[in-house]
Amino acid sequence: MLSLNDLQKSLILPHIRPGTLAADFTMGNGNDTLWLSRQIGPQGCVYAFDIQPVALENTRKRLVQAGAPDNCRLLCVSHHLADQYIPGRICAGIFNLGYLPGADKTLTTQRQTTLEAIRRAIALMDQNACLLIAVYPGHEEGRLEGEAIERMLAPLAQKQFSVGKFRLINSPAAPYFYLIEN
Ligand SMILES: C[S@@+](CC[C@H](N)C(=O)[O-])C[C@H]1O[C@@H](n2cnc3c(N)ncnc32)[C@H](O)[C@@H]1O
Repeated sequence: MLSLNDLQKSLILPHIRPGTLAADFTMGNGNDTLWLSRQIGPQGCVYAFDIQPVALENTRKRLVQAGAPDNCRLLCVSHHLADQYIPGRICAGIFNLGYLPGADKTLTTQRQTTLEAIRRAIALMDQNACLLIAVYPGHEEGRLEGEAIERMLAPLAQKQFSVGKFRLINSPAAPYFYLIEN
């Protein structure tokens, strides 16, 4: 069966330019940070954000155990402030929304900050860049977050952006994602 993660990564990959900048806007346990770190390579830099110190600890361990290149900046900062920390344009950014698996579910991403973070991430996109936004509609905030994101992305100018959505139509509570390309 189709792996959502593999599909997401295969869509991001053509936008990755080794030696440049990328961002993981929701670090969590560091899986996406590690993947970006490997793709962007030792000359590049991955900026990773989370509001929970435990996410930084888990990610730091994950990167060390995996022998990742020393090219990540882990920041305990909300993603809606990311543009204050990333010193240039990004070729790729990932938002894997929701809460940290196995931790406090109330510390989930919230519509207001998520929308602001996406707005600012769009402004950080380099030419031929992408943003991938994974939504988890199986919980109420996730469902509302997805609807709000779609309302925000649908009017983006066609000449400048292509915005796609991938959703399983026979599994309404399953995660789905948006891909923004410019
Ligand atoms: C589904 S997890 C991310 C999984 C992660 N990408 C991975 O590879 O393991 C969502 C994460 O978003 C974080 N988060 C919630 N609000 C945030 C915010 N305002 N800014 C940055 N991260 C936030 C949560 O703490 C949680 O760790």
